[in-house]
Amino acid sequence: MSALSRIWGTAVSHYQVEGDDLCDWNEWERAGRTRGGACGRAVDSWTRYEEDADLARDAGSNAFRFSISWSRVEPKPGRFDDAALERYRRLVNHLNSIGVEPIVTLFHYTHPLWFHDRTPWTSTKSIDAFSQFTRRVVDTLGDSVRVWMPLNEPLVFLLAAFYDGQIPPGIANGRILAKVLDHLLAAHCASAAVIREAVPDAAIGIAHNMMAFAPERPDSFLDRLLTRVAHRCYNRGVVEAFACGRWDFLLPPTTRVRGRRDDLVRSLDFFGVNFYSRLHLRCPGKERFVGEFRYADRTGRGLTDNGWEIAPHELEHLLSEASAIGLPLLVSENGIADAEDRLRAAFLTDHTAAIERAEARGIPIAGYLYWSLLDNYEWLDGFGPKFGLYEVDRLTMSRRPRRSVSTFRELGREFLSRGAGQRSGVGEPYSL
Ligand code: FCB
Repeated sequence: MSALSRIWGTAVSHYQVEGDDLCDWNEWERAGRTRGGACGRAVDSWTRYEEDADLARDAGSNAFRFSISWSRVEPKPGRFDDAALERYRRLVNHLNSIGVEPIVTLFHYTHPLWFHDRTPWTSTKSIDAFSQFTRRVVDTLGDSVRVWMPLNEPLVFLLAAFYDGQIPPGIANGRILAKVLDHLLAAHCASAAVIREAVPDAAIGIAHNMMAFAPERPDSFLDRLLTRVAHRCYNRGVVEAFACGRWDFLLPPTTRVRGRRDDLVRSLDFFGVNFYSRLHLRCPGKERFVGEFRYADRTGRGLTDNGWEIAPHELEHLLSEASAIGLPLLVSENGIADAEDRLRAAFLTDHTAAIERAEARGIPIAGYLYWSLLDNYEWLDGFGPKFGLYEVDRLTMSRRPRRSVSTFRELGREFLSRGAGQRSGVGEPYSL
């Protein structure tokens, strides 16, 4: 995996920043299925991409993670839009020219309008569709992009789209979950194979959302049991899938999700961990017997603007958990909604300290990406939460650095100067 050098940067996703992307999400918005309204022009990164890349560099980044809009690139099945591909090519060229490594994600939640009818995730056709899309992107960008992430958070997508039904395609059906996860992971493998063939020295990863869980009442047996079940399902299931090609977990109360795909094991060069917060679990819940979860400020750091607990020490534990996979780890998202920038500098300092402690234990850390470079469209919550290192005025679309950019830059300097993560000390391999 020659391509992955020490990384310090920021992350965005196409839909959340680009604007005016005709895909399943804006149908969802039109149907009133979001709490926070519509994305519209987002923050106009479709046209301001050079400026954004420069801002990423000015913040001291040597890498920038962004995603490709499938709906722009393939607006009709099998019909690809060269102008859209060319726009991504210009972004990649610009990043490379200013010394910022492009990290390309291929699936970050949104689909072309035709996808759910023609090649839905419940069908194996989805796998071919995703690999054809990958091939076209790789044909255009393969000579200039070395770091690839086919999927962002497949489990979050699975749960939100097919269990809760809160995001497109919005099908809440426990009976199809195992099949959909299998197809998502197969699509990852097929996409990774396409990338590897075209870009032999590519570094390929996945972004897995890991959440810390704690019993709301530490002396309650049921709270502790639910915490173990949630951790096993949400955090370990995907790690196990990539570590040994098998997965088997319970979604409370009774849905068992299991499967096997041997090619998952060799499909990755690094493992990405997206980490934000910790949830406190209670069983039985007050409204739902099976259990409930909530955020609470148990570390005394204050809650973020969207009410999430700040629990940096948990990042160290989760990195340790993920290290069982035996690959370098990339913190592929970590961030805070903090419009007034009161807590962000401490958040950054405390989370990078947790990473440093993990490294001191021999866990190989390839890098860190802050979510997000800019204030953006936060899915169901609209433009409410402000995660950006740069504030965006959505009337003028002008960008302005928040004070904590200087902390980010300084921490980046230290992180990059500490050198490459060690390879030793990865955890015991999983066995099921
Ligand atoms: C992650 C998503 C990302 C962003 C952050 C806050 O789970 O990958 O798109 O919304 O949460």
